[in-house]
Amino acid sequence: MSDQSTATNPAPARVRVSGDEPYDVVIGRHLLGELPSLLGQQVRRVLVVHPAALATTAEVVHEDLKASGYEAYVAEVPDAEEAKTAQVAAFLWGVLGQADFTRSDAIVTVGGGATTDLGGFVAATWLRGIRVVHVPTTLLAMVDAAVGGKTGINTSEGKNLVGSFHPPAGVLCDLAALGSLGRWDFVAGMAEVVKTGFIADERILELVEENSDDLGAWGTRPTTDATWAVVTELVERSVAVKARVVGADLKESGLREILNYGHTLGHAVELTERYQWRHGAAVSVGMVFAAELARLAGKLADDVVERHRSILGSLGLPLTYRGDRWEQLLSAMRRDKKTRGDLLRFVVLDDVARPTRLEGPDPTLLAAAYAEISADAPAGRGPVAL
Ligand SMILES: NC(=O)c1ccc[n+]([C@@H]2O[C@H](COP(=O)([O-])OP(=O)(O)OC[C@H]3O[C@@H](n4cnc5c(N)ncnc54)[C@H](O)[C@@H]3O)[C@@H](O)[C@H]2O)c1
Repeated sequence: MSDQSTATNPAPARVRVSGDEPYDVVIGRHLLGELPSLLGQQVRRVLVVHPAALATTAEVVHEDLKASGYEAYVAEVPDAEEAKTAQVAAFLWGVLGQADFTRSDAIVTVGGGATTDLGGFVAATWLRGIRVVHVPTTLLAMVDAAVGGKTGINTSEGKNLVGSFHPPAGVLCDLAALGSLGRWDFVAGMAEVVKTGFIADERILELVEENSDDLGAWGTRPTTDATWAVVTELVERSVAVKARVVGADLKESGLREILNYGHTLGHAVELTERYQWRHGAAVSVGMVFAAELARLAGKLADDVVERHRSILGSLGLPLTYRGDRWEQLLSAMRRDKKTRGDLLRFVVLDDVARPTRLEGPDPTLLAAAYAEISADAPAGRGPVAL
């Protein structure tokens, strides 16, 4: 991976994800030497799965695996959501079958969340489950998609409708990969970082507040060592929160739900926008909505709601949504797979790092919260899709 930083190379951080099969998320630079220990003793064959944008990195991983004595293969998959289809999964099953992959072999994914979701799903389903190690290359994939074991593909009826819980054998977050990430992909990942701050770690919010100029301008000017240090700490802290939550609740029976802060409305915005908005942009609006909802329900103080707007806004994330879409958003939220029965459920805050649940809020409360985030834009126009 190209390394645009001149920062020294301290020992990587290791975050343990507990559970039936605990694993490490290793965060640092130049981490390829860690791969064999994450793959484990028994693995002989490894398939490296990547999109075209990560071909060079994948080739480095491929060569390194061969040099370490593995029988290594590479498979290029389409970019972004185009990868998350049954056809692409079937292509990978074909590659595994042709190369005689057994239950003790493994997949390594190199890419963003779409690649880790796809590769994780194929690993979950091949011979009822083989090992997978993720090498996430976007901020979103490092702090969210690659950690926690959710894998999946899309169908023509919707996103992530087919999938499985399949925790990885390990995750390698090589921060150098973020050097080539475009500004808006980075900023969209920051929405999940900020979410983690609001639900569990106020220091994340302080770090973003102190460094929002540099973080929001990612990729548009050289990144200083100081900013790299901040990004490193943000990734470590966000991964630590996610690890703690999914370690206690792999299958979303309770605690894990807090990770969905901002996602109930966020998913509805994504659907209404036919997935032309980045996930992080939709979650940003969803968090402002959830904050307003909590304020109107008498739970959250005005200044914490304002803090949502100032932090997310300082990064360039959207805070409002067009005012003429409430009916569509409501029906999308009712159809969300996380809704139980007809009852709408929201993760809201009592305060920073004090998440709670709001079930079946009064429709007038919901409409009032929506009014607070509605843009005055005439029909047909909305805030810029990041
Ligand atoms: N499993 C989970 O728990 C979970 C959680 C959150 C999101 N997701 C999934 O993650 C996906 C979104 O992930 P994403 O935002 O990483 O998107 P992505 O995988 O689509 O990547 C975004 C773009 O960045 C490019 N890219 C990746 N790494 C790069 C790098 N280092 N430099 C330059 N370009 C690079 C990709 O080729 C792609 O075009 C969605 O499919 C979502 O459903 C899964």
